[in-house]
Amino acid sequence: MYDEIFKPIKIGGLESKNRVIFPPVSTNFGREDGHLSELFIKHYETRAKGEVGLLIVENSCVSYPEGKHGAYEPRIDSWDFYEDWKNIARRLQKYDSLISVELTHEGWKKKGVNFLSDEKIREIVENYGTAAEIACKAGFDMVEVQGAHGLLVNQFLSPLTNTRDDSWGERTKFAIEIRKEIAKRCGWDFPVTIRLAVDDFLDGGITLDEGKRIAEELQNYYQMIQADIGLGPKELRLEPMPFQQGWRAYLAENIRPLKVPVAAVGMIREPEVAAEILREKADMIVLGRTLIADPEWLIKVREGRVNEIRKCIGCSECIKARHDEDTRIRCGANPQVGREIEIKNAEEKKRVVIVGGGPGGLEAARISAMRGHEVHLFYDEFGGTLNLAALPPGKEKIRWLIEYYREELKKYDNLKMYNKKALKNDVVALEPDAIIMATGSKPFLPCPPLRDFVYLYEDVLRGEVKFEGKSIVVGGGGLVGCETANMLAEKNKVIIVEMMPEVAQGMETLSKKHLLKELQEKGVKILTNTKIVDVARGEIIVEKEGEQMLIEADAMIAAFGSRPFVPFRIEDVPTHIIGDAKSVRNIYSAVSEGFEVGMKI
Ligand SMILES: Cc1cc2nc3c(=O)[nH]c(=O)nc-3n(C[C@H](O)[C@H](O)[C@H](O)COP(=O)(O)O)c2cc1C
Ligand code: SF4
Repeated sequence: MYDEIFKPIKIGGLESKNRVIFPPVSTNFGREDGHLSELFIKHYETRAKGEVGLLIVENSCVSYPEGKHGAYEPRIDSWDFYEDWKNIARRLQKYDSLISVELTHEGWKKKGVNFLSDEKIREIVENYGTAAEIACKAGFDMVEVQGAHGLLVNQFLSPLTNTRDDSWGERTKFAIEIRKEIAKRCGWDFPVTIRLAVDDFLDGGITLDEGKRIAEELQNYYQMIQADIGLGPKELRLEPMPFQQGWRAYLAENIRPLKVPVAAVGMIREPEVAAEILREKADMIVLGRTLIADPEWLIKVREGRVNEIRKCIGCSECIKARHDEDTRIRCGANPQVGREIEIKNAEEKKRVVIVGGGPGGLEAARISAMRGHEVHLFYDEFGGTLNLAALPPGKEKIRWLIEYYREELKKYDNLKMYNKKALKNDVVALEPDAIIMATGSKPFLPCPPLRDFVYLYEDVLRGEVKFEGKSIVVGGGGLVGCETANMLAEKNKVIIVEMMPEVAQGMETLSKKHLLKELQEKGVKILTNTKIVDVARGEIIVEKEGEQMLIEADAMIAAFGSRPFVPFRIEDVPTHIIGDAKSVRNIYSAVSEGFEVGMKI
């Protein structure tokens, strides 16, 4: 099945054993001085072991410091870094993937490239040559030029950032000169691929038609083209969860056929989607976050174990780490990202009781069972809060994580599951050596629970109360409040009242932008810096900057957040409280703590 994925393909004179590319995904696992770290290398080894056809190491800086893109970006601008590249190449060569590295110069997105002197441009072209030569001598099979995402090559390609009247105003010239320089250093038989902006998604920028013309010209120089996005909105190339799988594969289709392979990028998560794209729209597929979340994706597909794939749910935790915080990436689905540790059998087998079947409890159960403990898992609802989190519009992918655990936990005979609320006596009767409390949180209600007027967000999300054509106030504009409002706004007039200066605080920037846009499109009114001071049936009094205001409403939905919930404690048994039961946060924290406690016990 899915034979399309496993057909070999030529990139220049080399053969990729399948159609899958692990693209550059910057990890921030490198060192601040631009050298690579052991964690960095292990992260890529894990992906190479996963049988990917072509593995491209993340964006690496060709001109330091001016072209630097990220606090921990690896440097490939000088021979001082040669040993790092030789070392990683040697480690990755053990696996059967083609290996490449993305050569990147951040450029000057705001200024554009008009101000650069001819001499300076030639110097940068040479920098690309040096970087490629380092990679080539170090043992890489090829290099990739970053020609998209609004970075320097894209800035030369785009009419928005390049209106020069000299020869560099021929906008493909820079990309072509880089390719020639690399050939001069490494020979024409050393393949070079390009991540190409085939649409800027901005007025006046590269259009689909022009993207096609650019690709047609560059096929004479580059040995594979990834059809990607240019200067435009970042959320289109780091898609938040609601985007449809494979939505931008049409960009690849649009530039095909070429004499070199064309790759489709973006939100390809399931083998069905991957195979369909390969049948109709592209020669290769890019699996970025897909392989961050499950580096064994390809092996599982090849072996017919598709149900076991831990799919990227699009939680954007990795993007938050890389782009909002510029710190090491982390993954909401895969707690081994950034840890890269082996899961070994426990030295002493213990009886472990886990109370709660949300993401933390399920991950703790998985790891404890894998390590050989006798595990007893109690849950009300398999998946816990994940079930609720998957209900707002566009959040369905969260269900994938529940499905993953359902499949995964079937594997262990030493794991017993009880579909019931655990009572203290149930736990005591099992005489556990360790208890893991993963009992989540309970909604917080700071106002009187007025019947038939104040409702909990949970009941709305679960469809236990339904509204149509009503005026509704959502009290609390955290993530949950905004998402509940988003659901309600499909059929009602909604106002969000938030005490803080902004709603959805702490949410990853691009996902937040997407959510706020949806709220705006649905006409949701947002009142920030506004406090609810009194609630009576039909009337809510709020206060903003010292002034009180009456809002008439048919209902108020309480989304004021939640408080950790630990139903009982048992003396004398080591107890670990994890996830929201410890402090209310998100899927990543729960899964991560479930993993940690499972490794520790
Ligand atoms: C955390 C993170 C870091 C990324 N870093 C890079 C990078 O270094 N260079 C690059 O060209 N693209 C980078 N990307 C974009 C990915 O290569 C890929 O194009 C994008 O994530 C869409 O594909 P996916 O849905 O399969 O993840 C990054 C994406 C993420 C999520
Ligand atoms: S952090 Fe979230 S978005 Fe990123 S790879 Fe993991 S599951 Fe996907």
